[in-house]
Amino acid sequence: MFGRVKSLDAILATAEKKSLHRTLGAFQLTMLGVGAVIGTGIFVLTAEAAQKAGPGMMLSFVIAGFVCAVAALCYAEMAAMVPVSGSAYTYSYAVMGELVAWMVGWALILEYAIAAGAVAVGWSGYMIGFVQNSFHVTVPLEFVRGPFDGGLINLPAMAIAAVITVLLVLGTKESATVNAILVAIKIAALSLFVALTLPVIRSGHFVPFAPLGFTGISGAAASIFFAYVGFDAVSTAAEETTNPQRNMPIGLIGSLAICTVFYMLVAAGVIGTVGAQPVFGPGHVALDPGTPALSHACSAIHDNAVVCSKEALAWTLRQVGYPFVGWLVGAAAILALPSVILMMMFGQTRIFFVMSRDGLLPEFFSKVHPKFHTPHVITVLTGIFVALFAAFFPVGLLADVSNSGTLFAFAAVSIAVLVLRRTDAGRRRPFRTPAVWVIAPISIAGCLYLFVSLSAATMELFVGWALVGLVVYYAYSRSRSHVGRGLFEVHEEDSDLPPSSVPPIE
Ligand code: ALA
Repeated sequence: MFGRVKSLDAILATAEKKSLHRTLGAFQLTMLGVGAVIGTGIFVLTAEAAQKAGPGMMLSFVIAGFVCAVAALCYAEMAAMVPVSGSAYTYSYAVMGELVAWMVGWALILEYAIAAGAVAVGWSGYMIGFVQNSFHVTVPLEFVRGPFDGGLINLPAMAIAAVITVLLVLGTKESATVNAILVAIKIAALSLFVALTLPVIRSGHFVPFAPLGFTGISGAAASIFFAYVGFDAVSTAAEETTNPQRNMPIGLIGSLAICTVFYMLVAAGVIGTVGAQPVFGPGHVALDPGTPALSHACSAIHDNAVVCSKEALAWTLRQVGYPFVGWLVGAAAILALPSVILMMMFGQTRIFFVMSRDGLLPEFFSKVHPKFHTPHVITVLTGIFVALFAAFFPVGLLADVSNSGTLFAFAAVSIAVLVLRRTDAGRRRPFRTPAVWVIAPISIAGCLYLFVSLSAATMELFVGWALVGLVVYYAYSRSRSHVGRGLFEVHEEDSDLPPSSVPPIE
């Protein structure tokens, strides 16, 4: 079962051939990470975390950040040692064999495609808030929210998914310049938020600190984990990195550190100014975010609680008397969130591309458009699914499901690091996870803990998805696998990226 492995040396030979294209340094990598990470999690899911944990969500941010930090230390060793794309999927193929790699790739579909859907829904919330506040109109909820959230279909979320799909088919890759501008916008928005809210914090808002106990804090940590997802995108840029041995770890851990500091400050700003107590249903029952029951309870109080807001940060600023800055923060989210969707969908097409080239998915998936030189088939397919998820599901559920896939991939990478220390101890490791026999097990345990803290429905969805994956593997992929058929060869010119000769937009 674990016999079909891809040779690490062959994978690395592939990477060597690409060395001419290395352009990203430590700073750009860190910016790439921050660009992929800051998004719907902090801008939107803060409200959901508050509904689950109350002010205790501060602790949830710390827990989720900690698990990501130990996972990042494991990622950094793999990414620096095996600087090729496909990230967790490729590492698993080399270390634990094809079946595990397949399951990781299958889980990454959840991570990337569903995360893109979640960010699209988050974007829609800010867009609608922005339109309503700028033009003093009331947009009918039916068409801007999914059926679980008091509406019918989320058309703006579908629209943004469609726009991003078209951009990807045309070959848009975010240039370092565009990314740097968007990162600056996001950091400016969050800094402004912190600067205006921290001075007016009242300690009374922090009690009761954990209205729903530690279970609530754990549940919120499992959800808010989403806010940190994306730093692994740094590792997928390994082949474009100068001196990846040094810069990869800096990029991964640096971007995570910057985001954690911001998240803590922003969470404190929300809690300390508007309070972050959950809204309860009749009989003081705790209501789950993204449910019709919470929608009703919120309508009854005219959405007058941060947990009811679809644009938590803008709402908070309006409440504390800075409507214009709230408007600016909304505008920043509207401008910057699409780049997170782009990164996620791009990551998805890249993973599909590599899996298809390995023979595990149909070859037509990796078909390249004759004019745009992009893998248009898989991009459009991905786009359709992302648009459908975004149209009908609430942001929190999508984020949770995406987290389940990500946690699985993180745990797999943490295991791979340990296995490789045993099976290939002599290989050069430009970055060594410190105290790996402590850190990696903590990472595995942390992923497991967050996974079981997800809602039962999310875990069931994950298990269902994994079972479908196993069926597809045994019914289709196993017999077609290039490694299985002895067809493995080094791809010199296209080891990671879907080929694209279109220059990035500056
Ligand atoms: N971390 C990314 C976000 O919060 C996925 O949007």
